Amino acid sequence: MTETARISFKKMHVLHVVGARPNFMKAAPVLHALSQTDGMEQTLVHTGQHYDVNMSEVFFQQLGMPQPDVNLGVGSGSHAQQTSEVMSLFEPVVLDRKPDMVLVYGDVNSTAAAALVCSKLMVPVGHVEAGLRSYDRAMPEEINRLVTDQLADLLFTPSDDGDVNLLREGIPREKVRLVGNVMIDSLVRLLPEAKNSQEAKRLASGLDRYGLVTIHRPSNVDDPSTLLPILDALGEISQSLPLIFPVHPRTRERMEGMIPADVQKRLKLVEPLGYVDFLALQMSATVVITDSGGIQEESTYLGVPCLTLRENTERPVTVTLGTNVLIGHDLKRLHVEVENILAGNPKEGEIPPLWDGHASERIASELAKWDG
Ligand code: UD1
Repeated sequence: MTETARISFKKMHVLHVVGARPNFMKAAPVLHALSQTDGMEQTLVHTGQHYDVNMSEVFFQQLGMPQPDVNLGVGSGSHAQQTSEVMSLFEPVVLDRKPDMVLVYGDVNSTAAAALVCSKLMVPVGHVEAGLRSYDRAMPEEINRLVTDQLADLLFTPSDDGDVNLLREGIPREKVRLVGNVMIDSLVRLLPEAKNSQEAKRLASGLDRYGLVTIHRPSNVDDPSTLLPILDALGEISQSLPLIFPVHPRTRERMEGMIPADVQKRLKLVEPLGYVDFLALQMSATVVITDSGGIQEESTYLGVPCLTLRENTERPVTVTLGTNVLIGHDLKRLHVEVENILAGNPKEGEIPPLWDGHASERIASELAKWDG
C-alpha cells in the first residue's frame, strides 16, 4: 500500500470528555452523529465530576449514550482540587489513547481541565458550545469558558453572539464554526418519549398548572442570606401556583431546615430528575424559574416562559429572541412576572436560528473535513 493510500484509510480518533450533568445532553448527539460518519473512531471519557446515579447514570441511560471507556472517578472537591485531579488523571489517558482530536463540552471544571491537558500535549481540542460569555468573572463557568476557548483549535458556537465574542477576544475566524445548539438536538430527539413520561405524569397529577423550579448556582444557594429570601418568595408564589422543585445535591445540603413545614407541602421537593422526565415537566410547565444555563435554552425552544434568577446570562439570545426574562435578585419582579404569566400575558419568543436538531451533524461534517 502506498503512503497516501494508508493515510486516507486511517480513521480519525475522536476522544470525548464529559464530567457533569449539563455535558451529557450535549455529547450524546455528537457521539451519535460521529458513529454515523465514515472513518471515525471514538473514545468516551467520564471524569466522574458528577457521580450520583440521578446526576449521571440516568442521563447515560435516557440519552442512549454508550458506557464510558474510562471513568476517572474524580468526584467532588474545591475548584482547584477537582480541576487538578481531572488533569493528573486525564493526562495518562491521552498519552495512552493518542486521540487525533479531543472534544470538550460546555463550561464545567472538567471541560477546562481536559483542554489544558491537551494543549500541553499538543493534542487538538474542539470546544462544543464555544463563545458564550456572561462577562461575569465571579462565575466559575465564565473562567472555564475563557480558558477553554483560548486553548481550543476548533470552536463550535451555538449562536452568532458566540462568534462575535470569540473574534473580539482575538480568536482567528478560521477556527470558529457556527453550528447551532447541540443540546436542542437531544431535546428534539427525546421530545416524543418525554410526552409519555410516567414520572412526570405522577409528579404533575392533580395539578391544572404548575411552575418548575431549579436552583443550584453557588451565588444563589451558598449564602443563607440570599437563599432564604428566594425560598420565601417561592413559598409565596406556591400559594397561587403549585411548584415542582427537583433539588440539586448542593442546594439540598444548603437548604436543610430552612423551609417551614407548611411551605414544604406546597413546594413539591423531589430528587434531581432524569433528562426525559425533566423535559416532560418543562414542556407542560406554566413557567420555569431557574438559575441554570441550559434550561434557559430549552424553555426558549419549547416556548415556555422562563424567569432566570441571575443578573446576567451567557445565553443572551434566549432574552433577545426567546422567552427568557432576567430577574436577578429582584424578588418583587419575580412576583410581578409570575402574576403576568398567570394572567395570560407571558413574554412571547421565537426559536433562534440553527436550533433545529441538526447541530451535531454539522459538527460531524466539520470534523470529517478538518485537516488540522
Ligand atoms: C457543576 C458545574 C455547573 C453546572 C452544574 C450542574 C462547575 C464549575 N460547575 O456545578 O456549571 O451547572 O454542575 O449540575 O463545573 N454533588 C453530589 N453528587 C454529585 C455531584 C455533586 O452530591 O453527583 C454535590 C457535592 O456535594 C458537591 C456539590 O454537589 O460538592 C457540587 O458539585 P460540583 O460538581 O462541584 O459542582 P456543581 O454545583 O454541581
